[in-house]
Amino acid sequence: MVLGIETSCDETSVALWDGFKGRLLSNITLSQEIHKLSGGVIPERASRSHEENILPLVESVLRRVDLPLSDLCGIACTQGPGLFGSLAVGFMFAKGLSWALGLPFIPVNHLEAHVASLFLDPPYPPYPFLCLLASGGHSLLLRVEGPFRMEILGRSLDDAVGEAFDKTAKMMGLPYPGGVEIDKFSRGGDPHAYSFPSPRVDALNYSFSGLKTAFLYFLEKKIKAMPKFVEENLEDLCASIQEALLAHLLSKLEEAVEGEKIYHVGLVGGVAANHRLRELLSERPWAVYSPAPMYCTDNGAMVALAGHWKQREGILGSWEDIPFARSKIGSS
Ligand code: KG4
Ligand code: ZN
Repeated sequence: MVLGIETSCDETSVALWDGFKGRLLSNITLSQEIHKLSGGVIPERASRSHEENILPLVESVLRRVDLPLSDLCGIACTQGPGLFGSLAVGFMFAKGLSWALGLPFIPVNHLEAHVASLFLDPPYPPYPFLCLLASGGHSLLLRVEGPFRMEILGRSLDDAVGEAFDKTAKMMGLPYPGGVEIDKFSRGGDPHAYSFPSPRVDALNYSFSGLKTAFLYFLEKKIKAMPKFVEENLEDLCASIQEALLAHLLSKLEEAVEGEKIYHVGLVGGVAANHRLRELLSERPWAVYSPAPMYCTDNGAMVALAGHWKQREGILGSWEDIPFARSKIGSS
């Protein structure tokens, strides 16, 4: 029984993974609503909210499955990357709990945990597979050889794709997290109503900031001529900017698939929950794997599973470990 704790950004999430039966027993995620109106995550508020929620969440998870603390075998927790203050709340809590209970403490890399989310439910991708990790902090193309062996084939040189979703949504007056809002409004719109230039980037890398700026200039021009332009065309605008962001995301994925000749593709991270991305991928002649939408966004389940794998391989943490804010991969 491994407890998984995730507090890297604005979701406080706790889960319990049964390593013996290979299944998730419980996962509770609390999305912080306080950031909705500010249009983005305010780090200080996120840390405070984790601090308030972490203990009640752990208690709820254990109560839900009627499990005493003494049945736990390890405490896994996200070490980074993420917001340092947010990470520190979960990390210090997990460290303290493991110390008090005399249990192994298992720091988990957030990016490796997202990849592990592919193994929460079957069907599982066979190794090696390609993985697109598309979230609010990352846009990564990975060649995955094993649970903790992965090579970065491409990455975003500026904004992450989720960040581009959130920022363009904010320009249209939509609340945070904007990716979810764009996804929702796009359903009634025409994805080809407006077109935006496709970014040109070397190799398998991404760049989303040009698209974001092009969208801003486009909106400013339209609003000048027609003040209610956004309100009256919201669905078409959402569908069109979403299509442009996803086209860039998919063009590099396509190149990676052809280059690597690997036709098993995993899709993880918050943006993987996007309905249009899933629809576009289902048209490709590849085997595509993705967790249920609630396990695409940040969750404790993926941390508990990755923690179980690490414990099985004897990769444990020490009391000297501290969180890291910056991206690292293959660090386990
Ligand atoms: O993986 P995640 O929960 O946190 C990070 O590790 O960053 O991803 C959050 C990101 C946000 O930018 C959010 O807008 C985006 O994922 N997102 C979506 C959708 N659901 C979440 N973007 C597009 N469509 C969605 N359905
Ligand atoms: Zn994440």
